[in-house]
Amino acid sequence: MCGIVGGVAERSITNILIEGLKRLEYRGYDSAGLALINAGQVLRQRRVGKVVNLEQAVNEADLMGSLGIAHTRWATHGKPTEDNAHPHISGPVAVVHNGIIENYQELKDDLEALGYVFTSQTDTEVVAHLVHDALKSAPNLLKAVEQVVPQLKGAFALGIVHTDYPDELITVREGSPLVIGVGIGENFISSDQLALLPITNRFIYLEEGDIARLTRDSIEVFVNGQPVERPIKELDATVSNASKGEYKHYMLKEIYEQPEAIQQTISQALNGNTLRDDFLKNADVDFSQIQNVQIIACGTSYHAGMIAKYWFEQLINLPCQVEIASEFRYRTPVIVNHTLYVCISQSGETADTLAALRDTQKRAAEKNIHIATLTICNVATSSMVRETHHSLLTLAGPEIGVASTKAFTTQLAALMLLVLKIGQVKQSIAADEISSIIADLWHIPKVMLDTLQKDKEILRLSDLFKEKQHCLFLGRGTEFPIALEGALKLKEISYIHAEGYAAGELKHGPLALVDNDMPVVILAPQDDMLDKLKSNMEEVQARGGELFVFADETSGIKEKDRQHVVLVPNVNALLAPIVYSIPVQLLSYHVAVLRGTDVDQPRNLAKSVTVE
Ligand code: F6R
Repeated sequence: MCGIVGGVAERSITNILIEGLKRLEYRGYDSAGLALINAGQVLRQRRVGKVVNLEQAVNEADLMGSLGIAHTRWATHGKPTEDNAHPHISGPVAVVHNGIIENYQELKDDLEALGYVFTSQTDTEVVAHLVHDALKSAPNLLKAVEQVVPQLKGAFALGIVHTDYPDELITVREGSPLVIGVGIGENFISSDQLALLPITNRFIYLEEGDIARLTRDSIEVFVNGQPVERPIKELDATVSNASKGEYKHYMLKEIYEQPEAIQQTISQALNGNTLRDDFLKNADVDFSQIQNVQIIACGTSYHAGMIAKYWFEQLINLPCQVEIASEFRYRTPVIVNHTLYVCISQSGETADTLAALRDTQKRAAEKNIHIATLTICNVATSSMVRETHHSLLTLAGPEIGVASTKAFTTQLAALMLLVLKIGQVKQSIAADEISSIIADLWHIPKVMLDTLQKDKEILRLSDLFKEKQHCLFLGRGTEFPIALEGALKLKEISYIHAEGYAAGELKHGPLALVDNDMPVVILAPQDDMLDKLKSNMEEVQARGGELFVFADETSGIKEKDRQHVVLVPNVNALLAPIVYSIPVQLLSYHVAVLRGTDVDQPRNLAKSVTVE
């Protein structure tokens, strides 16, 4: 998704803006641009494609300036062209924008009637012209922006500069993330603090509806024209500075980081083989009252939720529903008293999940229904974490690869901790069962390390996929969501069409697809469903399908003609989905590399989907 970086300083900030944009590249974008205010002029460069193209143009033009805004654009309104790239200019005003201005067409019609000429197809350009126009009557830039914002419908974050205000950067947060990076004698903005980590670890997290004026030495925040205080938060110096290190891609690095990420995530909650007394305690939610769980999430995070449903119902007898947020938010679901709403999100900023959460909270308050909310999230400072009663952090460190890997497996670990915690409070699970599951959880990082040793075998199998057009993933029970996840990983980074199915559904349709050319990936841990799964494998083989089986070392499944087997270390069936994520991630990764796709930034996708 789009990224914003901006700053006001004494020194030239050209390089800071370019470096900031590079740190946002992982989010996905198709063009980039920058504008600096210098000697009463707006100096702008924009380029289609990667930030290095912009960097080259900026260097050739020798652009310098101590006030500026920059942007990576992920096209929503209008194609990825130079004219559509941000910043957009209207006379002395330059604007960068994340999000969507829904009523831009009517605003554009009004502005054209006033004589403003549009040079792009974007929704953003209206903001530049509106601010320009507002300055005809407003006493200063801040007031002009305050006049414009109420006219805009939608979700947006803005960075605005003006040639007559050479020491002033105005920023707006209204439904799209924006942080202020606090420096010494210089201040910055970004849509993601990661962009600013090389220059500061002190941040102000703006709230929805905030408008801020930054100068070199001051930061003022306003709501409805009135000054408000926003605390400065200092980030832990251990927040990883995300680099690829020895790995060829972030995705591979992140796959290999999983044992440690799981260890970190469970350590915060455990004391030996028991849950810590203070784990999820200091909040105003009484888990003993919870009668239902409703999980809301998108994409990979939704698959984590699907697995948790099995755990909630099987282990602690608590009814659990799971739904993708983009459907949930638009279908007026019944809100039931004493329901725990769980948002699962790597970023904590996904537009659909956030909207579903907000809408549920609003409707529950209107109807006086008692609900609790909890976010499982990888970003401590995200909107979802701030807006739910509880949060349970996945301590995976920044995930840069667009395809989610370590965030997913740490979500699973966190969900298991949550299930155990609620079960303990509700006394619906025996203490020794909790201890036994925790003992197995502690063992998972080691099993994952052993599974990562299978990388070379998986690489060899990947070679057989590289020319394929289609692929099926099959699993049963908690491996069904892993089949969905495997298919999602493969399609998003290798562009091979892939489908995940519950193996029991084969006969109800997908078996018709199976022929000599159809690879079928099977997830076969040692569990109650293994024998049934073996029958499904027979069904595929009988139709000429080629099997690629990730099987428990005790499963008895052996290599044979058109049946390739990678043995996975034995693991408690309950926790098997955490471990079986690894082979499907590695398979997708290697197939994508062999096909030469852009693994970390697959086409058309963005890391954090902050617009609908
Ligand atoms: C797939 C992937 C996406 C995200 C989805 C939700 O690999 O990464 O499907 O899982 O966009 O994002 P978050 O978890 O940030 O809400």
